[in-house]
Amino acid sequence: MWWRLTLPCPPELEESLVWKLTDLGLHRHAVQHAPETPDRKTLLVWLPKPEWPEPQRRELIASLQPLAEPFGLSLPDGHWDDVADEDWSLSWKQHWQADPVGAGLLILPAWLEVQPEHADRLVIKMDPGSAFGTGSHPTTRLCLEALEQSPPLGSLVADLGCGSGVLGLAALGLGAESVVAADTDSLAVRATADNRGLNDRSEAELQVALGSVETLSELLAPRRADLLLCNILAPVIEALSPGFEGLLQPDGRALLSGLLVDQAPRLKEVLGGLGWLVTVEAAQGRWGLLEIRRR
Ligand SMILES: C[S@@+](CC[C@H](N)C(=O)[O-])C[C@H]1O[C@@H](n2cnc3c(N)ncnc32)[C@H](O)[C@@H]1O
Repeated sequence: MWWRLTLPCPPELEESLVWKLTDLGLHRHAVQHAPETPDRKTLLVWLPKPEWPEPQRRELIASLQPLAEPFGLSLPDGHWDDVADEDWSLSWKQHWQADPVGAGLLILPAWLEVQPEHADRLVIKMDPGSAFGTGSHPTTRLCLEALEQSPPLGSLVADLGCGSGVLGLAALGLGAESVVAADTDSLAVRATADNRGLNDRSEAELQVALGSVETLSELLAPRRADLLLCNILAPVIEALSPGFEGLLQPDGRALLSGLLVDQAPRLKEVLGGLGWLVTVEAAQGRWGLLEIRRR
């Protein structure tokens, strides 16, 4: 007894759409894409049929439409299917696939086996639940690729806005000594803890708690991190940035993503004013990543 919305999802809109749905308490959603065409995605949303007559479904679409405007896009047309007997919790799992990232990483939905062509890759198992961060979003990929290019060997890593924990788990796989992680969303904290178990990591290796900069600082005390990972939207990064210095060793670095390329100049100016130097810049489509170090 479900309505299933199928909506073509431009990559720029994925994050906002997933957040909006989660904010509305609609957790039964999935973003489908084939690994070879990461830019062609489809958003699927399942709604209990009795609670969602047509006017409510139209209202939902109307509330998603404004999310496209900041990108100069309009929300693509979607369609609703009556999927009377579909078990959404199984259906959304069918849409995930093993996702090779960078030269040697593989994001693997926990219920799948590693295929022979990916046997040499470092596997990060994910049961993404409703927390953002399966590895398919360009900002997550940018962070994963940057991690892979400069592996955090022996580092203490702080993962701010950990989502599903994908970045912290990748950091551990790439040689980090330990990770502390925080997120303001309790579902993300739970997903990170669940994914820690899936990847056979201990609580000593990956500690996660509800919160933000302060929480990370408490988890790190009396130490500071060698590497800060922060993949959150640009205005949030800007608001949190005065706290970065207190989280990092003087010679530490941070990987910041979640920003649009257009937002980079302003963010660089703010970070420069706080004594940070941008040492690496990368982009995928309209999304950007900055690596920063103390000047
Ligand atoms: C774009 S997701 C990134 C998830 C994951 N780290 C990744 O790279 O795929 C951003 C995450 O930041 C969290 N978040 C948003 N504002 C935050 C804040 N002020 N402090 C900590 N986490 C925050 C959200 O709940 C969300 O899980």
